[in-house]
Parts: sequence; C-alpha cells; structure tokens
Amino acid sequence: MNIYEILTAKKRGLPLSDEAIDFFVDGFVRGEIADYQASALLMAICINGMNDAETYALTRAMIASGDTVDLSPLGQSVCDKHSTGGVGDKVSLVLLPLVAACGLTVAKMSGRGLGHTGGTIDKLESIEGFDTALSRERFLSVARKTGFAITGQSEGLVPADKLLYALRDVTATVDSIPLIASSIMSKKIASGADVIVLDVKVGSGAFCKTEADAKQLADTMIGLGKRAGKKVAALLTDMNTPLGNTIGNALELKEAIATLKGEGPDDLKDLCLTLAQTILHLAGKGDRNRCRRDALRALQDGSALEILRKTVSEQGGNVAQIDNPDLLPQCRYKQEVFAARSGYIVETDAERYGMAALLLGAGRRKKSDSVDHGAGIVLHKKLGDAVHAGESLATLYASDPALFAEAETTLLQATVLGDRQPCPTPVVLQTVLDR
Ligand code: URA
Repeated sequence: MNIYEILTAKKRGLPLSDEAIDFFVDGFVRGEIADYQASALLMAICINGMNDAETYALTRAMIASGDTVDLSPLGQSVCDKHSTGGVGDKVSLVLLPLVAACGLTVAKMSGRGLGHTGGTIDKLESIEGFDTALSRERFLSVARKTGFAITGQSEGLVPADKLLYALRDVTATVDSIPLIASSIMSKKIASGADVIVLDVKVGSGAFCKTEADAKQLADTMIGLGKRAGKKVAALLTDMNTPLGNTIGNALELKEAIATLKGEGPDDLKDLCLTLAQTILHLAGKGDRNRCRRDALRALQDGSALEILRKTVSEQGGNVAQIDNPDLLPQCRYKQEVFAARSGYIVETDAERYGMAALLLGAGRRKKSDSVDHGAGIVLHKKLGDAVHAGESLATLYASDPALFAEAETTLLQATVLGDRQPCPTPVVLQTVLDR
C-alpha cells in the first residue's frame, strides 16, 4: 500500500478500505506521510466525501492514534455533552451540574476557545484556583464525590486529530461532514463516556449554515457513536444570534450561575432543559416528560447549583465567587453601544458578535494567546427586539479602552435594524435520535 494509490483512489471518488485509512492515519502521525500528501487527501475527502464505513474507519484510526480514558472504575454509565461551537454558549456550565443533580455521573474533558467561539475551560478558569488539569485519579474522585468532574483535554487523546485539524484549518478543509464528524466523535469516544448528547449549532455563528447540513452532521455522528456502542442523541439548535445575553468568560459564568438559580434568559434555560431532558431520557431515567420535570425541579430547588458549588470546591476553586458572582474578574473599562435609528433588530451575525468579544480580549486568535477573563459583551437587545434611536444595544467590557472602537464597529455592522419585527425562531430546531 502507498499514499499515492490512496490519493488516486479518493481523487476518483472511490471508497477507501479500512486498511488504507489505518495506513494513512498511522503514517501521518508517525511523520512518514508528508503534510502536502495529507492535505491533498483531506481536500479529496472534502470534495468527494466518505461513506459511513470509511467515516467510521477514520474515527477508529484516529482513536487508535492515542490514549483512551477508562471510566469503568466509576461503576455506572457516564455522560458527556458536546457543542459544535457557538457564541455565548455557556450551556455546559448549566447542563452538566443539572444532570448530575438528577442522578447522572458526568466526567467531561473540555476545550478552550479559539476564534469567535468560546471554550468551557476558559470560562471555568475565571474562578480563582479552579484546577482544569486534573490527574486521572482526581478526575475520577471528583466525579465520584459530586457527580460532575470537568478537566482540560489530555495531551495524549487523539493526537491524529490535533495534527489533521491544524492542516484542515489552513487548507480550507474544515467544512466537510465526514471530517468534522470523525474529529468530534473520535474525541468523544476516546473520552470514555457511554451516553453522549450533541448540540449541533445552525446559523451565522456555526459551521453548519443550514438545518439540512446540521441534520446530516448529527446523523453521521449518531451513527458513529452507535457503531462504537454508545448511546447518542443530538439537538439542532439556532446560532443565528448569540445564546443568552453575555459573551465573554466571567460574564458567561455569571449568567450560567443565574440560570442555575432559576433566573437567566429564556433561550439559555430552554436549551439547557431540552438537552437535560434528552440526556436523562437517553440514560434511562424515564419518559421525556418526566425527565423534563426532574430537570426543572433541579434548577428550581437549588440542587443543580449546589453540585456546581461542590465541584468548584473539589477542584480547588473559590466558592465565594459562585455565591457572589460580583467577585468574578471584572474589567476596569466599559462602553455602551447605541442604536443609530429606531426599529427592530431583524438580523444578527453571531460570528461577528464573537469576533467583537475577541477584539475586546475575551477570546484568542491563535492557540497560544491568553484570554482576559473579565472582557466581553452584555447584550441589552436581541434579535426581534424593538429599539429606539440612542438606546443602548450592548455594554462592552475591556481592560484597555483603545479596544472599544473596533469592537463597537464590528458589533454595529453585525446588527441589522429594520422596520418589521421578524418572526421569533425557537432555540431548539429539532431533536435527532438514533436513525
Ligand atoms: N470541532 C471539532 O472538534 N472538530 C471539527 O472538525 C470541527 C469542530
């Protein structure tokens, strides 16, 4: 077998055998297949696609490139959640303690933000002392004690994905369903959970710009999970506008804590409850109605918030900041963004909102950048809201006032005002269960 034959086959649109895919992934990770050859294959896959068997073979080969996590010492089924990445997406901070409060065990590896999307680990690192690099023993011990442990992705997990993603990022080959599905599911399967819920974002702030693409991605990921013996379901959710009213690390954590107190914006609360209902049902906790009732109760009676407090404490974080979120990092400077005319917000470009937060210091352009935990945006008006000329659309927060000008321009360009109120879009567009 050689890489030239594999490239030729995929260029002609022929399916690759399991052996060819193993040969490629293994050879690439060992450095025996050059970046230019891997890039050519990625482009051929992007153009000609992969069938289900090839996509599963790629997923398996990527898992085999590194370590896997054994969660069996926890002695029961373990849950995980994945979002394909959105703006203002603080769902994990609410959902995971919520389902733990309903009796599930959550042991999750999570990522950092890049570009316009945020990452749960950055948000949690707004808490003084919170350890996001747990040893395996501590990870299991926190999950056992509180029902919810979260840590950064271990270095040895799916190294093939890190190498391939770095090439995809610079060769315009990110937006391929088999490549996205195998990248996400290899990490989920290697992380060891047996019940997985996927939040597949659709819209201007997401990889998938249409619901049809998102459905195809969801079906592919569910199929991969099923072949690996996992229980998987997905929600297709709206990302044409940021989720909730905040973008930025400590600001989002604050909003998540409010939501765990039964407050918080309706879109975020609704999405968290629907995801909780879906994962509880998948884990065998009863019919969907009962699961939703249980989740709502755990928000209302404070038990979900209590799980977050315990996890923060077990992972070395300052619980006083959960009890009083005003103690979380705050920026020294703020600036309002005013509406230039009266009307309704008829369109928002969620990706640009994320870029505006990044310009304020809340995100990173490249992996090695650090983030300003206090920086970001609080939205006072959202898609569909009426506004008056001169009214504040948002407050920007930054540690350097020189950052405001470009962020303000970006936010205003991303917010289209019109005369007619648009029809409201629900946050949950579809629930996708096993094919
Ligand atoms: N997220 C991932 O982890 N991988 C992709 O390919 C796209 C989004």
